[in-house]
Amino acid sequence: MTFRLFYAIALGMMSVAVLGLAEPAQETPGVKRMPFGKTKDGHPVDLYTLTNGNGMEVTITNYGGTVVSLKTPDRKGKFADVVLGFDTFDGYLGNEPYFGALIGRYGNRIAKGRFTLDGHEYHLAQNDNANSLHGGLKGFDKRVWSAKEMPAKDLAALQLSYVSKDGEEGYPGNLSVTVNYSLTPNNELKIDYAATTDKDTVLNLTNHSYFNLAGQGQGDILTHRMMIDADRFTPVDSTLIPTGELKSVAGTPLDFRKATAIGARIDQNDEQLKFGKGYDHNFVLHRQNGGLTMAARVTEPSSGRVMEVLTTEPGLQFYTGNFLDGTIHGKGAKVYGRRSAFCMETQHFPDSPNQPKFPSTVLKPGQQYQSTTVYRFSVE
Ligand code: GLA
Repeated sequence: MTFRLFYAIALGMMSVAVLGLAEPAQETPGVKRMPFGKTKDGHPVDLYTLTNGNGMEVTITNYGGTVVSLKTPDRKGKFADVVLGFDTFDGYLGNEPYFGALIGRYGNRIAKGRFTLDGHEYHLAQNDNANSLHGGLKGFDKRVWSAKEMPAKDLAALQLSYVSKDGEEGYPGNLSVTVNYSLTPNNELKIDYAATTDKDTVLNLTNHSYFNLAGQGQGDILTHRMMIDADRFTPVDSTLIPTGELKSVAGTPLDFRKATAIGARIDQNDEQLKFGKGYDHNFVLHRQNGGLTMAARVTEPSSGRVMEVLTTEPGLQFYTGNFLDGTIHGKGAKVYGRRSAFCMETQHFPDSPNQPKFPSTVLKPGQQYQSTTVYRFSVE
């Protein structure tokens, strides 16, 4: 190396250090573990930090398989944490709305907490008015998962697994679930879900991260621009159970086929928006093929951050944090007000076990449940 080149590199490194431009520090891809706390019944849980070598970093706890933080750069290279959550483990033990958690066995609602499978009626906890929501009273979001750091060359990967016993939360079958989180060199958080059962059951797994691309706690998300590649959605009744119809988004405030500010129509006088208190609806994704397909693209104008959502799932619950009300104080003591984040829950349609025309959520012995979702971050 010539002296001049060496000098230039050294100078560059110094200015980066002084200006703090490269924060968080560049690292080789990998996973680090540290203790995070103890559950009420004394189980220790850990916090895993995944880094991808570009400075992007995600932390995940094996309690609920929860994404605790996700740091991505803005258009100037400045990093911010773009998901809601808590600095310490205690926050996750309180009454909180599934921040970052893995949701199962059944993401979204099952009407009246009931479904019939193979002639047998199963009863679930009615934890959302009369309906069952997000797996019941102690869903996958409140379970301690086994964690394994996965050796991988170019990416940081964490494997979580959990065995849900036959009858847990009212669902049939011993269900073995594996969720792989990986952070790729392309600034993608990739989630691979897999499961098997020993008895016919129903299953709908998702992740419940709350995003704010301006940074967590930076006000509402109404100026984010959202594109959802869906021609139809599943209209709901006043309890957010689908009517069974697949309705065209054309001419409705749910038409996001062209990128539109989330807040542009959110308070329109529309029955669906009233039922959801904003957006809280499942979109029928326009799938070009059977594999991983682009479902949505969100941009935040002030930071330039872009998030794309790709999935193998047929549906996407777009929820605009309508139930957040400022009572929760999250990371850095930030107040999480109404609509201060949005969720992109890739999934099968709500209440599918009671909707014969919806894609099936039944899993049988010998079958392998498999699903992948990617949250890809960039800037513009
Ligand atoms: C989902 C539901 C919402 C709400 C949140 C959690 O996104 O669709 O109605 O229950 O979870 O608060």
